[in-house]
Amino acid sequence: MSNDTGQDLNGLQKKWLEAVASTGSVEALEQVRVDALGKKGEISALMKVLGTLAPEQRKDFGARLNVLRDEVAGAIDARKSGLANAALNARLARETLDLTLPARPEYEGRIHPITQTIDEIVAIFGEMGFSVAEGPDIEDDFHNFTALNIPADHPARQMQDTFYLPQRDDGSQMVLRTHTSPVQIRTMLKGDLPIRVICPGRTYRVDSDMTHSPMFHQVEGLVIDTHTNMGHLKGCLQDFVRAFFGIDNLPVRFRPSYFPFTEPSAEVDIGCDRSGGELKLGGDKDGNARNWLEILGSGMVHPNVLKNCGIDPSKYQGFAFGMGIERIAMLKYGIPDLRTFYESDLRWLRHYGFVPLDIPTMVGGLTR
Ligand code: PHE
Repeated sequence: MSNDTGQDLNGLQKKWLEAVASTGSVEALEQVRVDALGKKGEISALMKVLGTLAPEQRKDFGARLNVLRDEVAGAIDARKSGLANAALNARLARETLDLTLPARPEYEGRIHPITQTIDEIVAIFGEMGFSVAEGPDIEDDFHNFTALNIPADHPARQMQDTFYLPQRDDGSQMVLRTHTSPVQIRTMLKGDLPIRVICPGRTYRVDSDMTHSPMFHQVEGLVIDTHTNMGHLKGCLQDFVRAFFGIDNLPVRFRPSYFPFTEPSAEVDIGCDRSGGELKLGGDKDGNARNWLEILGSGMVHPNVLKNCGIDPSKYQGFAFGMGIERIAMLKYGIPDLRTFYESDLRWLRHYGFVPLDIPTMVGGLTR
């Protein structure tokens, strides 16, 4: 048996060393280890045969078996670190960093002109002590109309202007707010006086052409205290339009008008020049306007509106204004078609958009 067994061991040595060398992964190598040296492995099985041999045979065979086992175990260890190294090298090659790439790539995104314009408006009024208030896009009749002194038969309520939601069980209908004025109402109903807020947000009307979109943006302003008068309204809005358009002597005109929720009411025009088929904001060298352009609505808050919000009109008064954000953005940035604001055209956004760090502040200067 000694001779036969010896040949077996040589054959086994060749077989298992080749098996180890041919493995291509840590998993395959582990399988070889289990098959050779595991509890039920081929070499382990021979260890069990040892006990059945005669003493001198056992000594010789045992020694050779130990050598075989150690050789195979050693080969497995060596192969294991070889495979691990190869795996690490492959991973390092895969994960190389190109250190020549710029750390901060060029900005790809742009701030939409509407967002930029809102930020500018907030910066200007923020400087004047206004804070920002918001309200829901879906409003009830009371906040959007009734509380604002808009009578039941007012044309603004009619189907062609207002988006109505389906009738509810009690017969009432919610609306998509037709202006930001309901946020005035919500702010006054909170009862925290005095008030000095602006309310930018989305508004909706059944309208669509070059200069009208069914969804657009407005910003509302509201000041309520015991002493604010029409002079404050004029000064505040004049300062605003001059700061916003960046024209110090921009002519500003207050023209009598009508809104159900203000009394008296005034529309605000700014001076421009339309000669030569081109629109240029500003007056001549003496500050006189050649033409006028209407840009916002305003007025002293109607006593009925104050009453509807639980505020005593004999003690409190104030002014309100509202303007279309797209309109003033188009004027300032020379954007000719309102509809392009919502087309999500990347080329348009790259052209008219703003880089993210171009944050408007009154100290840092607004975008011109
Ligand atoms: N809510 C008015 C509109 O949508 C604008 C406005 C607001 C006018 C506040 C006066 C005062 O046309």
